[in-house]
This record gives sequence, structure tokens and C-alpha cells, in this order.
Amino acid sequence: MQTDVWENFISLNSTGDLKSEVLGPARDYVSQRDGSVDWNEIELPLDLAMNRDVSPIPIEADRELYYGPNHFNYWASGVRDLMQILEWARGQGIKLESSLDIGCASGRVMRHMHYQTNIKQVMGCDINRLHVDWVARHLPPEITVFQNSSIPSLPLPSESVDLVTAFSVFTHIESFDTTWLMELRRILKPGGIAWLTVHGERTWREVAPGWPLYQALHAHPDFAAMRGLPQLPSDRVIFRWRADRSYSANIFYRDAYIEKCWGRILEFKGMFPALPHFQDVVVLQKPNP
Ligand SMILES: C[S@@+](CC[C@H](N)C(=O)[O-])C[C@H]1O[C@@H](n2cnc3c(N)ncnc32)[C@H](O)[C@@H]1O
Repeated sequence: MQTDVWENFISLNSTGDLKSEVLGPARDYVSQRDGSVDWNEIELPLDLAMNRDVSPIPIEADRELYYGPNHFNYWASGVRDLMQILEWARGQGIKLESSLDIGCASGRVMRHMHYQTNIKQVMGCDINRLHVDWVARHLPPEITVFQNSSIPSLPLPSESVDLVTAFSVFTHIESFDTTWLMELRRILKPGGIAWLTVHGERTWREVAPGWPLYQALHAHPDFAAMRGLPQLPSDRVIFRWRADRSYSANIFYRDAYIEKCWGRILEFKGMFPALPHFQDVVVLQKPNP
């Protein structure tokens, strides 16, 4: 595969070809249940959820290595993350009929939007062509999936989406965060919600050995000068690994920056720990006219 093609500056694997095998559906791995994704916190009978979702699970290499060899936890984590949104939206009286998961990878959360909710139009996009191909090949055709690029532009009509999610994506977007926010404002329906996970000040304070982020930070040459600082030294702190490709950085935001700067574009509704607690969720709403 050619890697030096122009598309790879703004996307990944655009000329790649998906070859790998897949795993069975979630039920095949229920014996791996070890409590690290606590189903007792999930308001959905496990049997029902597994009966509904008959699609294969991606192998680790096709799912950003999430949850290592524990395929059940990979699957269950998506239900847990989705339930956190549904509960919040219910509390606010917000009805969700359409959703877009940006950076959906091979559908860890998006598959559950299709199988476990009443959302009529489920969509996802990713800059990695292989993820898009995986979803198109292995998840139900009712799910719309497309490749986007790291240029903040989405091929969707204005005011067409009730819910935009991005799990562990703004943690890697090193440029144009405000332009992305403007694009989300355009596609969201009035009253629609953006649910974006970030590394904020709490993550900076609490990051500890054993967290996925810890090794990366400690390996980065810029981190040495910041180690032990109780506060982030600037509004946006970017640890970039490569200058010539997308998805090659870890970003931290000051909470006040998010509230003030992103909150100018969409209404800031809150910021609280995501599940698991390595990141915070920022919830923003497009105001009703
Ligand atoms: C850490 S993974 C998270 C995957 C998925 N959201 C989840 O929680 O399982 C980040 C994903 O975002 C994608 N990505 C990174 N930058 C992106 C961008 N600007 N637009 C869309 N996807 C992006 C990557 O290709 C990758 O699939």
C-alpha cells in the first residue's frame, strides 16, 4: 500500500484495503465478563442487548486495540457509553431521532445506537478508510458511514442531526477545534446536542500509571518540562508526534477555555467525567431560536 499519497496528510488509509477476519457476536464472549465494565449500572437486560446485536465484533487491530483481548468488555463499553448519553438526554427531555458519531472507528458505540435505541437515522464517520470499510461490510446497512478528513467539513445538510458524539476524538484533534465546533453548529438541529470527550484539567491532574495516556505523555519530549505542573500551562496543550499526518497528537484543554471559547459557538451545558473516567464529556447544545 502506498502511504505517501496526498490524502494521507488529511486522512488515513485512503487507498487501503480491508482484509482482516472478524470475531463472533457479543454472546460468544460473555464468559469474558469480569466486571470491569459493570453491567449492573446499565439499565438494559444483558440477554436482550445480546439478542438484538448479532453483528460480528472487530478484532483488536480493527478497533483501535480497545479492551485488548477482552471482546465482551469492548462490546459492553459501547452500551455503557451510550446509556450515559440516553440518561442525560432523558433528564433534559430531549428526543433523539438522528445521530452522527464522529471518529466512530469500527462502531464501538454506533452499533448500539442502531441495535439498542429508537434512533431512526444512525450515522458515523472516520478519517480512517479501513474503519469505514469495516462498518460498511459488517454492520447493518441502515447505518450510514462515510470517510471524512481532518479538514472540518461534513457532507451533511444543515440542521439535520439531533446528536453528535465524538469519543476520544477531540483528544487528538490538534488544529481547527473552533472550526469543528462551527461545523457541528451548522449540522445540529436547534436543540441538538454535541457530546464530546476531552482531556481537561481533571485528566491532567489525575493521569496515573495504568491509564492509556500515561505512557504516551511520559514518552513525549515536551512533557518533561511540564511534569508535576498542577495546572495546564496554556489553554490548549498539544503533544504532537508527527507533523505530516492527522491523528498523531494528544491534546489537553483548560476547562475555562472550553466553556468560554466553545461556549461562544454552542451553548455550554456541562463538563463531567466520562465513563471510564480517563476523560471528561463536554455537552453543548445548539440553542432553539
Ligand atoms: C481513539 S479512537 C476512538 C474510536 C471510537 N470513537 C471509540 O470510542 O471507540 C479515535 C478515532 O477517531 C478517528 N479520528 C481522528 N481524528 C479524526 C477526525 N478529525 N475526524 C474523524 N475521525 C477522526 C481515528 O481514526 C480513530 O478511529
